[in-house]
Amino acid sequence: MYDNKVLITGGAGFIGGHLARAMVALGYEVDVVDDLRVPPMVSPDGSAKLLEKPVLDLDEDDLANVGIVYHLASHKSVPRSFNQPLDYLDNIDSCRHLLALCTGVGTPKVVVASTCEVYGEASVLPTPEGAPLAPRSPYAATKVGVEMIARAHQRAEGAPEVGIARFFNVYGPGERPDELVPRLCANLLVRNELPVEGDGEQRRDFSYVTDTVRKLTELATGPLAAIVNIGSGRSFSVNDVVRVLQERSPDARVVRKPARINEIREFRADTKLQICQIGDLPGQTSLAEGIRRTFDWWADRDPEEILRRLFREESN
Ligand SMILES: NC(=O)c1ccc[n+]([C@@H]2O[C@H](COP(=O)([O-])OP(=O)(O)OC[C@H]3O[C@@H](n4cnc5c(N)ncnc54)[C@H](O)[C@@H]3O)[C@@H](O)[C@H]2O)c1
Repeated sequence: MYDNKVLITGGAGFIGGHLARAMVALGYEVDVVDDLRVPPMVSPDGSAKLLEKPVLDLDEDDLANVGIVYHLASHKSVPRSFNQPLDYLDNIDSCRHLLALCTGVGTPKVVVASTCEVYGEASVLPTPEGAPLAPRSPYAATKVGVEMIARAHQRAEGAPEVGIARFFNVYGPGERPDELVPRLCANLLVRNELPVEGDGEQRRDFSYVTDTVRKLTELATGPLAAIVNIGSGRSFSVNDVVRVLQERSPDARVVRKPARINEIREFRADTKLQICQIGDLPGQTSLAEGIRRTFDWWADRDPEEILRRLFREESN
């Protein structure tokens, strides 16, 4: 049955895992595609069917009767993309293959995940969808490529309805510690340290993962905008996040690290189109509450496992 079946690429990952569980809870039949190239923090729980393979190995049978595809699978680390840029070309090729398959089988709707990183250092804040694309990393450049493939399908006759969702910074339980919030939580727990890159005044538009997932599930129910920002519309600095965690552990040591290459000073979403498309959803999680919940999730984990995870991310 068309409307009820969902396929989520990257569905064993951080956002995809939360989305898969939410869609199952809403009564959808969910298939997850993930080759587990990065070990998930939370193992797929069996409520969704796992197709353990790369997107490039999907075939028409895998898409049969799917009503909506969420294409989240991606290499996504900004620093790693400077060291291993060729790996990131897979982001573009996978999107091309998936959209060709969806066109072939007549999949009605596809949501393609992109990122605020495509704006680079935006001259307008909050940044609307029409702002120029100025990527500052190989990762962001491949997401521009992914968007261009998606845009081409938006213009092609017989292609699915394709919507590009530009996520800002999503955080919460289940994210690997190569990203800001989990890295701070994990380091605080096992080293009593809070590593801060640069001066910590770089600002991000943070969304707690379940809030982002609610927005994504809403996209399944109405027409898709060609491109929509998925963010909170507010920005906080890294130092703001550190201050929330210092309330938990006032004697934690802030450890200064070198700034990243091409670090962006601020991301902040213009959310007018998002609100037009899916409404102004009530009950969004505050930064302090979201950070506390994320920290509590980390605090429930085995310290040995946290150290292993940190070591893996730091040596990559
Ligand atoms: N987390 C954020 O703050 C954020 C911000 C902006 C954009 N995004 C985008 O959202 C999407 C999901 O991000 P996430 O944080 O959940 O990432 P994640 O790394 O936790 O999950 C991605 C998953 O995709 C899988 N994968 C990658 N390439 C694949 C391929 N070709 N075939 C099969 N599986 C593949 C990985 O094994 C992983 O499980 C990505 O497209 C990312 O670029 C995320």
